[in-house]
Amino acid sequence: RRPVSYYELMGGAPTIRAIVEAFYPKVIEHPLLAPLFPEDITPVMEKQEMFLTQYFGGPQLYTMKEGHPRMRARHIRFPITPDRATAWLSCMQQAMDEVVEDSALREQMMERLAMTAYFFVNTDEQED
Ligand code: HEM
Repeated sequence: RRPVSYYELMGGAPTIRAIVEAFYPKVIEHPLLAPLFPEDITPVMEKQEMFLTQYFGGPQLYTMKEGHPRMRARHIRFPITPDRATAWLSCMQQAMDEVVEDSALREQMMERLAMTAYFFVNTDEQED
């Protein structure tokens, strides 16, 4: 029997969409994160929607459209400090709190995202 994915457990496409829509307004308001993002956040949201879909076990939307994710490599041109990873995760935690009702599921998904986010850290330098 095929294991049930996080994608299915959380409610599929509409839930991913809602997470992305809750998340990016917080990102572009966050003092550590905002400067890294382009003025038009829409294309980033679309890619993140495709990526999180497959990251949580749904259809491979990102790979079909953009090729192999190589997601850490795609982040190399941005200075990702430990503080920025923490900031990203705190925006995501807030978005999940708003959107995903099941707190145990939320916690598991955040645990996975935390590993990924800290894996993307590529500099220790803090720009203050
Ligand atoms: C793109 C920052 C973590 C998924 C981006 C962009 C920035 C960024 C600046 C590019 C925006 C542009 O197109 O100009 C960060 C920071 C993180 C982080 C500071 C802190 C650790 C993550 C994590 C994931 C993720 C954990 C997934 C679980 C993506 C995706 C894109 C993206 C899918 C679009 C990639 C593409 O252009 O195809 N991120 N990110 N990011 N990020 Fe992150």
